[in-house]
Amino acid sequence: MDFEQAVKARRTIRTFSTREVPDELVRALIDCAVRAPSSMDGQPWRFIIIRSSETKKSLAEIKDKYCPPEKREFPAGFLCNAPVVVLTCVERAGSYDRGIENGVLATAHLLLAAANYGLTSVYMSAYKTGTPEVADEIRAILNIPADFEPITLVPIGFPGAEPGPKNIKTPDEVIFHETFGHR
Ligand SMILES: Cc1cc2nc3c(=O)[nH]c(=O)nc-3n(C[C@H](O)[C@H](O)[C@H](O)COP(=O)(O)O)c2cc1C
Repeated sequence: MDFEQAVKARRTIRTFSTREVPDELVRALIDCAVRAPSSMDGQPWRFIIIRSSETKKSLAEIKDKYCPPEKREFPAGFLCNAPVVVLTCVERAGSYDRGIENGVLATAHLLLAAANYGLTSVYMSAYKTGTPEVADEIRAILNIPADFEPITLVPIGFPGAEPGPKNIKTPDEVIFHETFGHR
């Protein structure tokens, strides 16, 4: 797949095939994630590859516990059916006050790399602003040290369904020239 095809193929699908995602493939995704830019080139990332059913269940429970049903598009239980979940965390000291951006950019690379290999992935946050319990509980079950911040949680697998319909904005809808609002 060329780059543009991979970017345009990337979609969130929450139904996974039972087809295994081997460690070498996950490693190839991480090898793309670590090519992301980072503040001061700090490369503060660590990626935890989660395959344990018990751990996936605990992560889904934490997500649902702190996200009330009315604010939730999808209950997090689907992540238990993903063959693999990648938790991206960043070291605070190596993030130069830009931990979230560093973690999110590496995650964006991960999502696009997954699409390139025909995998689907779901972006999920591993923290909640104003609710430190989310990151704390995730840290506790994954044994993440206090000087690392969990940023994202990405279930990955081969798709077990077609993506839903989606209206994608055209470039003309979102481009302004020189100043805001000027087309
Ligand atoms: C910041 C952010 C948070 C998200 N959180 C969740 C989440 O908690 N649960 C979930 O199922 N999907 C989550 N998503 C995935 C979005 O629902 C999905 O990307 C969006 O519907 C667009 O669909 P697409 O990825 O197929 O283009 C999140 C995406 C982003 C960027």
